[in-house]
Amino acid sequence: MAASRKKIVVSLTVPADLRERLQNEFDLIDLPVGGNIDDVVPASDRAGIHGLLGTLRLKVDDALLARYPGVEVVSNYAVGFDNIDVDAATKRNVLVCNTPEVLDKAVADLTLGLMLCAMRDMVRGDGFVRGGKWMKGALPLSTDLAGKTLGLLGMGRIGRMVAARAKAFDMDVIYHNRKKDEAAESSGLARWVEREALFRQSDVVSVHVPLSDETTRCVGARELGWMKPSAFLVNTARGKVLDEDALVEFLRERKIAGAALDVMTVEPIGADHPLCQLDNVVLQPHVASGTVETRRAMMDLAVENLILGLRGERPRALVNA
Ligand code: DGY
Repeated sequence: MAASRKKIVVSLTVPADLRERLQNEFDLIDLPVGGNIDDVVPASDRAGIHGLLGTLRLKVDDALLARYPGVEVVSNYAVGFDNIDVDAATKRNVLVCNTPEVLDKAVADLTLGLMLCAMRDMVRGDGFVRGGKWMKGALPLSTDLAGKTLGLLGMGRIGRMVAARAKAFDMDVIYHNRKKDEAAESSGLARWVEREALFRQSDVVSVHVPLSDETTRCVGARELGWMKPSAFLVNTARGKVLDEDALVEFLRERKIAGAALDVMTVEPIGADHPLCQLDNVVLQPHVASGTVETRRAMMDLAVENLILGLRGERPRALVNA
C-alpha cells in the first residue's frame, strides 16, 4: 500500500509553479495570512499535520506545537524567526527554517533609501511640490551623507552590505557588535567601537540586530540621549528592538533630528499612531525585503526548506541545526 501523503498548512500566497511542487508531494491546507490555524484544521485532524509554511504573522509557540504534535518542520518565509519559539520546537524535534542571505541586498538598499529620505528630507520635498509650494517659499536645507559617520548597531550580513553601500556615499562607518568583524576591520570597511561611543559619534545610527530577549528595547531613552541632536536613527530590523515611546518623545522634542523606520513595535500601525503625527520621521510598512526578485528568492528557499525537511533531508537554511 502506498504511504499516505504528508499534510502541510500553507499560510501565504505561493506562486503557481511552487504550489504545484508542493502539491506533487503533500496535501495542502490553506490558511489566510493572519488567520487562526485552528479555524482551518479541525481538532480531529491536527495530529496529522506535518509541516507549516508561513509568514511572521504565523505565531508558533509551544501550545500550538502541542496541539499539532505531528509537525516536523516549520518553514518561515522570513529571515527573522521571532514569531517562533525555537527552544520549544527544538525540544519537540521540530525543524525551524528561515530565508537568510537572499534578502540581504534588498534590506541594505532600503536602509540606504531610508537614510537618504530622512537626511535629504525627501518626503517633505515631495509634499512641497505636490502642495504647489515650489514658488512659494523655501524648503529647509537638508543634510549631506558624505563625510558623516554611520554607526551600525549589529554587524551581520546585512550590516556589512549597508556598510559597503555607505562607503560609496563617502561615509565613515563604525559598528558595535559582540564580536569584531576582522574582515571589515582589515579591509577598512568599518571600525568596531564601544556601544556608547557608537551612539555618541554617529550622525546616523542604523539598527541591524535580530530580535531576542537580549535585544528587546535595547535602544531606549538612555541610548537616544547619547545621540547628537543633529543625528538620525534608522531601523529596518525589528520594531521591538526600540523603545518606541522614548523615540516618539525624542522626535517630538527634536532631541534628535529624525528617524526612518520600516518596522514598528506592533504592526500594522494605524494613521492615528503617534509616529504618524510627526514630520521628522519617514515610515515604511515593513517592506525592506519587498521586491519582486527578493520575495521570489525567499519563497523558493522557504518551499525548498519545507520539502527537504519533510523528506528527511537537511533543509538549506536550518535555524535549530
Ligand atoms: C524578515 O525576513 O525577517 C523580514 O523582516 C520579513 O520581510
